[in-house]
Amino acid sequence: MQFEPNDADLRITELARSAARDHLAPRAMQTDAGVFPAENIGALGSIGLLGIKIDRHYGGLGGSNLAYVLAIRELAAQCASTTVAVAVTNMVADMIARFGTDDQKVRHLRNLVSGAYQAGSFALSEPGAGSDAASLQTRAERRGDDWVLNGTKLWITSGDVAGVTLVMAKTDPGKGGRGITAFLVEPGTAGFSVGRHEEKLGLLGSSTVSLAFEDVVVPDAARIGAVGQGFEIAMTALDGGRCGIGAQASGMGYTALRETSRILSARAGQDKALGTDQNAQFRLADMAVRLDAAWLLVQRAAWLRDQGSKMTKEAAMAKVAASEAANFACQTAMQLAGPDAFDAGSTIARVWRDVRVSRIYEGTSEIQRLVIARSLAAAL
Ligand code: CAA
Repeated sequence: MQFEPNDADLRITELARSAARDHLAPRAMQTDAGVFPAENIGALGSIGLLGIKIDRHYGGLGGSNLAYVLAIRELAAQCASTTVAVAVTNMVADMIARFGTDDQKVRHLRNLVSGAYQAGSFALSEPGAGSDAASLQTRAERRGDDWVLNGTKLWITSGDVAGVTLVMAKTDPGKGGRGITAFLVEPGTAGFSVGRHEEKLGLLGSSTVSLAFEDVVVPDAARIGAVGQGFEIAMTALDGGRCGIGAQASGMGYTALRETSRILSARAGQDKALGTDQNAQFRLADMAVRLDAAWLLVQRAAWLRDQGSKMTKEAAMAKVAASEAANFACQTAMQLAGPDAFDAGSTIARVWRDVRVSRIYEGTSEIQRLVIARSLAAAL
């Protein structure tokens, strides 16, 4: 297993690092005040970072999954709110590239990747269907050449600003997961509306909304994949998405580690080894060990996806390990840095709030463990 980044991966990583430094970092506090980071999105779109794996023909970077996680980690180290919108946009673009028709690619990919659409959104979760995604209730019924959608989606990242939303709906309620079909729905379609804006603990610059579908008519040309293939598309998206959330969490975790080391070194009078404070030394070391171990799992999962291997279990491992390591790191940073971290405007306070949801969204830590355990059982 060789997941050493190649030159192309490193170029994309450097592109993300400099964009994060030049655009995301200076606006991180403003974004955290609840302002959707439209300027950041525009800047990232102009250099291809909204379509890291998308073919250059559509304005993407044609990069690998490994490059994707490396880039997401760089962005998240400076602004996790921007990064979640970027990650979901990349995920929707990937699904169009994988499962879309030529017409769908032409219609949406350039707009998504350039930032003209501002974002893409992924509408799977519902009021009664979060972890048990296959039990979703949104209906799509065939009427001639069209489909009519009815239902409600909840906790949808960028749902109010997205130029296209990937919507999973039941087309055959008797068939469970096999009765779900995916559609590309555009804003302005009659009957499609944005509902409640969630007020959250963290990721304050990213918008999270409910979406309502009331007799929304879309043509069959808006269906992506085959009838009944929607759950597979959603799960394929989440295999890649979970690598992205692992990378996002890692970015925040390493920021917490760096920031705590900086604060403690300053307190110890520039003594980089943190003097004789063994409590701080041991705890910083634990943060570094857990973050590095998890980050290796994230890179392994991305690399396996690049090889075309099934990597559902490895994506789940990467996501649970990285989100929990990063939460541990941010929690420990808060304790070690104390008043410097508890200041509401501090970087540690921001990542401490922002990182919490990484154990919840794109499948809770418990769902990841379920996926891992099922794979272990299947391998017996
Ligand atoms: N890739 C391809 N196909 C897959 C798959 C995968 N990774 N996982 C499952 N499938 C297929 C199975 O092969 C099976 O196909 P058949 O019916 O043909 O045999 C079908 O899907 C059903 O699979 P399961 O029996 O495993 O499905 P399940 O109902 O038991 O549930 C689950 C699986 C893993 C628990 C799933 O419900 C799940 O992932 N839940 C969590 C949902 C989630 O992560 N939501 C995130 C919302 S998006 C979000 O948060 C984004 C954001 O805004 C930041």
